Amino acid sequence: MKHQKEISSMATAKIFPNSFAFLLSALLFSLLLLSYACRRAKSNMEYRSQDLQHTHHVLHVNSLLPSAVCNSSTQVSALHKKKSSLQVVHKHGPCSQLHQDKAKKTPRNADTLFQDQARVRYIRSRLAKNSAGSSDMKETDAANLLAKDGSVVGSGDYVVTVGLGSPKKQLSLIFDTGSDITWTQCQPCDGYCYDQMETIFDPSKSSTYSNISCDSALCNSLLSATGNSLDCSLSACVYGIQYGDSSSSVGLFSKERLTLTSTDVFDGFAFGCGQNNQGTFSGAAGLLGLGRDNLSLPSQTARKYNKFFSYCLPSSPSLTGFLTFGKDSGKGSSKSVKFTPLSRAAGLQDSSFYGLDITGISVGGRRLSISASVFTTAGAIIDSGTVITRLPPTAYAALRSAFRQRMSQYPMTDSLSILDTCYDFSNYKSVSIPKISIFFRGNVEVKIIPVGTMYSDTVSQVCLAFAANDDDGEVAIFGNTQQKTLQVVHDGAGRRLGFSAGGCP
Ligand SMILES: *[C@@H]1O[C@H](CO)[C@@H](O)[C@H](O)[C@H]1NC(C)=O
Ligand SMILES: *[C@@H]1O[C@H](CO)[C@@H](O)[C@H](O)[C@H]1NC(C)=O
Ligand SMILES: *[C@@H]1O[C@H](CO)[C@@H](O)[C@H](O)[C@H]1NC(C)=O
Repeated sequence: MKHQKEISSMATAKIFPNSFAFLLSALLFSLLLLSYACRRAKSNMEYRSQDLQHTHHVLHVNSLLPSAVCNSSTQVSALHKKKSSLQVVHKHGPCSQLHQDKAKKTPRNADTLFQDQARVRYIRSRLAKNSAGSSDMKETDAANLLAKDGSVVGSGDYVVTVGLGSPKKQLSLIFDTGSDITWTQCQPCDGYCYDQMETIFDPSKSSTYSNISCDSALCNSLLSATGNSLDCSLSACVYGIQYGDSSSSVGLFSKERLTLTSTDVFDGFAFGCGQNNQGTFSGAAGLLGLGRDNLSLPSQTARKYNKFFSYCLPSSPSLTGFLTFGKDSGKGSSKSVKFTPLSRAAGLQDSSFYGLDITGISVGGRRLSISASVFTTAGAIIDSGTVITRLPPTAYAALRSAFRQRMSQYPMTDSLSILDTCYDFSNYKSVSIPKISIFFRGNVEVKIIPVGTMYSDTVSQVCLAFAANDDDGEVAIFGNTQQKTLQVVHDGAGRRLGFSAGGCP
C-alpha cells in the first residue's frame, strides 16, 4: 500500500509539471493560432480592399457634386497647346460666359432630364426620317412637347466660341455631334430672336458675307442635312431645322468667313443666318454642327482636317475641356486611343449620327450576360447633346440589377425623372461605387468615371446615370455624362471612333 501511495504521489509529482507544461504549450499554441488568425484576417482585409479598389470606385461623396466656381487653372492646360483647339465649357457652368447672366438660372436636374427626353425624341425622329425617306413621322412631337412644357430650351450642353465674318465677331455656339448645319441668330431677326449673351450677328456689317443661290448644289444638300426641304426667298436659299424640344431656326443659308483659331480660317463656310429662332439655347448664339452629313463643319473643312476632330468634356462644369480639329500633331497622347469602327448597321451607316456597336457591359469587373442581339437590334450612336446614356431595356435591366446588388449596403431613395436607381448618401462621407465599363466592337473597353456613373446635385439623391429605352428596337445612345474626361476621337475619313481615358480634368 505504502509503496503504491509512493508511486501515486510520485506520479502526481511527475504529472504536475507535465500538465503545467501542457497547459503552457496549449496557451502558446492558441496564442500562435490567434496571431496567425489575426494576420490572416488582416491580409484578408488588405486583399479585400485591394479587391474593392479593383472593382469599385472608393471616393468622397462630395466629389460627386459639381463645384460652383470656375477652376481657371485648367483653362490653359485644357488647350494642350494644340494649334486648332477650342475651349469647351458646359453652358450652365461657372466657366461659361452664358453663366454670367444671373437672370438665367441653372435648370433643376429634373428639367434637364425632361429636356433630355426631347433630345432623344429628336434623334429617333431624324433616324426614322432617314430610314423612311419621308417626313411624316413624329411631326406632332414638337407641338406635344410645347404643350406640356410651355417653354423651349434648345439642344445640347457644351459651348465653344468661334469667329464669324469680317471683321470677325466672336460667337458662343453649342457644339453638337448630332446635327449638321451650323447656324447663328442674324440681324434683322425678321421672325424672332431669343435673348443671347453676345450681340447678334449682323451680316450687313461683314464684308465676307454672301447669299447662297436657291439652285446651287449646296442649297440642294439641305434636305439630308436638316430633314427639311429647302425654300427660296427671292432666289436666296432658305434653311429650316427643328430639334425635338420644338426649338428651331429658320433663315437664309449663307456663306461667311469662319475663324476657328488664328491659323485656321475658312472662307465661304456655309451656315444658317437665322431670322426666326425659337428656343432659348441658354443664351448661346446658335449651334455648331459636327455631324457626318456633307454640310457639317467636319465635312466642309475636310480638305484641311480630313474629317478628323476630337473633343473632351470636363468632369465638372467648373472645368474646361477642348475641341480640336485635325490629327493631333502632339506626341504620345494619341497612342492610348482605342478605335472602334463606325457602325455598319442599317439605318445608322448613312445617317448623320456617329453609329457605334456596343458589345457588352461590365459591372464591378464582371461582364453582364446580355445576348449580343439585344445590342444589334437597333444599334447605338454617340451624341454630345444627350445627357444620359440610353440602353435597350433588356441591357438596362441587367445593369440595374447587378448595380443594385453591389450597392445593397446603401439606402435607396426616390427616382429622379428617368433615373430609377437613386441613393441617399447623406450619412456617408465616403462611398464605394461599382465600376462600370461599356465595350465596343474591336474589344474597346470604355471605363466610366465616378461622375459619369452617378448623376446628382445633392448627396441625398445620387442616381445611377443610365436609363432604358421604351423597347429593344430603339437606338441606344452613348450620352455626354458617360463621356466625361474621355478624349473622343472622330476619324470620319477612317470611319472609326476612338476613346482614350484622361483626356481632360
Ligand atoms: C483645379 O484643377 C486642378 C486639376 O484638376 C486641380 O489640381 C486643382 O486643385 C484645382 N484647383 C481648385 C482651386 O479647385
Ligand atoms: C452633298 O451631297 C449631295 C448629294 O448627296 C450633293 O449633291 C452635294 O453636292 C454635296 N454637297 C457638298 C457641299 O459636298
Ligand atoms: C440675300 O437675300 C435676301 C433675301 O432674298 C436679301 O434681302 C438680301 O439683300 C441678300 N443679301 C445679299 C448680300 O445679297
